[in-house]
Amino acid sequence: MKDTVTILDNATGKSVELPIRRGTLGPPAIDIGALQRELGYVTYDPGFLATASCHSAITYIDGEQGVLLYRGYPIEQLAEKSNFLEVAHLLIYGELPSQAQLGEFTNIIRRHTMFNESLKSFYHGFHHDAHPMAIMVGVVGSLSAFYHDSTDIHNPHHRDIAAHRLIAKMPTIAAASYKHSIGEPFMYPRNNLNYCGNLLHMMFSVPAEDYQVDPLAEKALDLIFILHADHEQNASTSTVRLAGSSSADPFACISAGIASLWGPAHGGANEEVLHMLAEIGDSKNIPKYIARAKDKNDSFRLMGFGHRVYKNHDPRARLIRAMCHEVLNKLGNQNNPLFELALKLEEVALQDEYFIERKLYPNVDFYSGIIYKALGIPTNMFTVMFAIARTVGWVAQWMEMIADPNQRIGRPRQVYDGATRRDYAGIKDR
Ligand code: CMC
Repeated sequence: MKDTVTILDNATGKSVELPIRRGTLGPPAIDIGALQRELGYVTYDPGFLATASCHSAITYIDGEQGVLLYRGYPIEQLAEKSNFLEVAHLLIYGELPSQAQLGEFTNIIRRHTMFNESLKSFYHGFHHDAHPMAIMVGVVGSLSAFYHDSTDIHNPHHRDIAAHRLIAKMPTIAAASYKHSIGEPFMYPRNNLNYCGNLLHMMFSVPAEDYQVDPLAEKALDLIFILHADHEQNASTSTVRLAGSSSADPFACISAGIASLWGPAHGGANEEVLHMLAEIGDSKNIPKYIARAKDKNDSFRLMGFGHRVYKNHDPRARLIRAMCHEVLNKLGNQNNPLFELALKLEEVALQDEYFIERKLYPNVDFYSGIIYKALGIPTNMFTVMFAIARTVGWVAQWMEMIADPNQRIGRPRQVYDGATRRDYAGIKDR
């Protein structure tokens, strides 16, 4: 039997046979290329609910079962046994590194952590109360003006250096955006610290005092970063791929990804969860907010609930929930009212018919914000933290796309609903 699907156009009687592309896991895809060539149709799929935009060997999600694999490894195993830089190597190069490879990779990342001193002056152009995500979009986009030796995207060595620079400098750029907002001096990276420890140091230390990285804070961040490192073709990753499909330089592409991530329906949700919990304020108000979330005439949604792909528990949410308990217990504020409110809200929503029917479960961002808050990270930095971690995935996906021999510029089509041809009328005749 042929592995094809036949489309019959009832209007003309013409038909076309479309090949099926099967991956190693997940639903098969109909290759619709011939549909336009032979029958003259385009396809219509707003929000790409049923569209595979590429072949990828990086991340696999089974939304029904709540499964997430990075290069075939279950997220639970990586969360328990690995660390963020090892996961970064896995996502970018496809395999877990040997001891020597991990040592080399870690060393390279450590040695690229500083940014060009001239970049500092960029920060001073931003108002002190600028949102750090706005600063991230600008500063990351400007990197191509500084690092010309890594913008030839057709040169694999350039691609590698760009990837290393982005992963290494992202915490430095992020910490500087925070320091700018509170008027403190930027802290240089300390290359004897590990990735997350260094980020905490650059955010929270000051030149006048010694600073000790809290091992639990470092561990919690490392876990969150592993969980956020990649998530297949989500909005920001697709943005990075689309921007990169025109051969734009990698720094511009990642800047575009940061802009997309910022939206409250995507990475901005972690910040919105905290705003929402603050607004709810007390568990006695939960029914009112649940009712608002269910009301079609109200734009309010339960932030941190629901996911385009997961129609079951988000496996990342389970892992992060456990870490949330650990952090709050250790930091001595297990009776944190915010966390208690979040747990109560979760309990009520999970028993509500509306959420059950629509398979709306808490996602990773329902808990990440609570951990960030417990670690003293300000709310407007939450999405920045997400961006640091997701840079690894963006870079891996961008590299995969550039190396793909079938890669072409992304150019979606449309169903045009506007006016048909009409003639220009002079202003007096309108
Ligand atoms: N609160 C209330 N109702 C919801 C919610 C929610 N959080 N999420 C979805 N729904 C309803 C929605 O109104 C719709 O109802 P109906 O079928 O009656 O019209 C139904 O559930 C399906 O929702 P959808 O908007 O068609 O689903 P989507 O796949 O387009 O959207 C989503 C997914 C994540 C944007 C959405 O669930 C949402 O806005 N959630 C809140 C924001 C959030 O937490 N985002 C973080 C996602 S995880 C981190 C990341 O990957 O960025």
